[in-house]
Amino acid sequence: MVYPIVKYGHPVLEKRGEDVADFDSPELHKLIEDMFESMYAAKGVGLAAPQIGIGKRLAVIDTTTGEDPGQKIVLINPEIIASAGSQKSEEGCLSIPTFREQVTRPNKVTVRAQDVGGKFFEMTGEDLLARAFMHETDHLNGKLYIGHISALKRDLIRRRIRKLQKAGEWD
Ligand code: NI
Repeated sequence: MVYPIVKYGHPVLEKRGEDVADFDSPELHKLIEDMFESMYAAKGVGLAAPQIGIGKRLAVIDTTTGEDPGQKIVLINPEIIASAGSQKSEEGCLSIPTFREQVTRPNKVTVRAQDVGGKFFEMTGEDLLARAFMHETDHLNGKLYIGHISALKRDLIRRRIRKLQKAGEWD
């Protein structure tokens, strides 16, 4: 099932999600499957549960956008445990469509998370994958990438979104 993506302005995007506590349930498996389907449909490389209106600490990532099924990553209750270096590149978010901004992120990031069965694992990513680990873990903590840009640029985006909301072009 493809879920509609919740857009900026919805409070679920700016609230820390609840930790996932029930593992290996049919519901969790189905939700993960639906999140991959929704992410591919939206042509994203990552999707966090709050972005489909579910306030839980669960995210999916595939930096190949479905080209390589071996690259599917599921992060449950993730924490960033190490980061190094720096990269500056354009970043966007499915919940803030049409906008993109330069965001500085660490270039190498290690995440500790649980898998669908509840087992803890660590994974290190570089470049785009490091960026995805940061971006998705931020989502699960109620943070958006526009929190990492200047207040001036952030206000500009907010103003343009308010205009779109008034015009009924942002829901
Ligand atoms: Ni996002």
